[in-house]
Amino acid sequence: MNSISQWSALMVLLCITIAHAHTVITYPGYRGNNLHTNGTVAQANGLGVAWDEKNGSYIYPYGMEWIYPCGGMPRSNNRTKWPVNGGAVAFQPGWFPGHKTALIYINLGLGEIPENMSHPVVSPFQITGPTNDPYPGTVCMPQVPLPANISAKIGDKATIQLVEVAKHGAALYNCVDIEFADPHDPEIDGSVTRDNCFNSSDITFQYMYTTSGIGSGAAMIQPPQHTLLALVPLLLATIFGGLM
Ligand SMILES: *[C@@H]1O[C@H](CO)[C@@H](O)[C@H](O)[C@H]1NC(C)=O
Ligand SMILES: *[C@@H]1O[C@H](CO)[C@@H](O)[C@H](O)[C@H]1NC(C)=O
Ligand SMILES: *[C@@H]1O[C@H](CO)[C@@H](O)[C@H](O)[C@H]1NC(C)=O
Ligand SMILES: *[C@@H]1O[C@H](CO)[C@@H](O)[C@H](O)[C@H]1NC(C)=O
Ligand SMILES: *[C@@H]1O[C@H](CO)[C@@H](O)[C@H](O)[C@H]1NC(C)=O
Ligand SMILES: *[C@@H]1O[C@H](CO)[C@@H](O)[C@H](O)[C@H]1NC(C)=O
Repeated sequence: MNSISQWSALMVLLCITIAHAHTVITYPGYRGNNLHTNGTVAQANGLGVAWDEKNGSYIYPYGMEWIYPCGGMPRSNNRTKWPVNGGAVAFQPGWFPGHKTALIYINLGLGEIPENMSHPVVSPFQITGPTNDPYPGTVCMPQVPLPANISAKIGDKATIQLVEVAKHGAALYNCVDIEFADPHDPEIDGSVTRDNCFNSSDITFQYMYTTSGIGSGAAMIQPPQHTLLALVPLLLATIFGGLM
């Protein structure tokens, strides 16, 4: 194909249009609702999170989800059981305006209160949504594996971190605390269904680049071929829009 370099150029142009985004992890759940903004930038003296003396609480003038590593949410006590050999992760990327495209990362942190979230479990991918307005779509990875060379035991604790990167490079964070369990544990068995694990037809996937460093444990999630073709009119529209 001699259109590869054109394609790369189009991808670069597409990236420029990536805007704000907010996520909710719908399966296996989340630490809590962090779609929350309060206080003013001036009150916080320019910080993303600050202690507000007057009200005796933290304020998040840009919104909680920007705070590393878990969008301003501390470790939760309501852990979800998740298969010890990996399992499903479903999320809604389209909360708040400006999420037409986004880069997605899914990582694992190990332990009760993870020291880091430095274990990627899927190759980063880009999603393209139907509109820049908030949209209800869901994305589901039915079998997210454990990171290469990491083995978990039943009863081990961990945290799944979902990262969504906005057009300016800043990222939104969301987490869910899990406990590894037997895949046939009654709390897991049947908990992943067509109702909570599906891909909305109006959200498409593109790979940004391959990360061989992730290793064999992270199965590549291949976009369906027709997605690439379907993307071309969108890309042309993007360029056209950009020139206007
Ligand atoms: C944990 O509790 C919080 C606060 O009640 C709730 O918002 C959240 O959905 C719960 N998460 C799970 C995974 O049950
Ligand atoms: C904190 O309290 C003050 C006065 O009681 C109020 O005006 C302000 O809006 C409060 N801050 C936030 C973030 O709600
Ligand atoms: C701001 O939001 C945080 C997180 O929800 C909350 O804990 C805090 O009480 C709020 N502060 C004010 C002043 O509204
Ligand atoms: C992250 O934490 C794990 C333990 O959970 C540790 O083995 C690993 O070395 C840490 N990685 C980094 C990059 O700090
Ligand atoms: C959603 O799409 C991704 C990327 O094509 C795919 O890996 C995943 O299996 C799909 N999820 C479902 C539930 O089919
Ligand atoms: C996993 O372990 C094998 C053997 O020790 C090593 O060759 C490989 O580089 C490791 N992979 C990762 C991603 O750390």
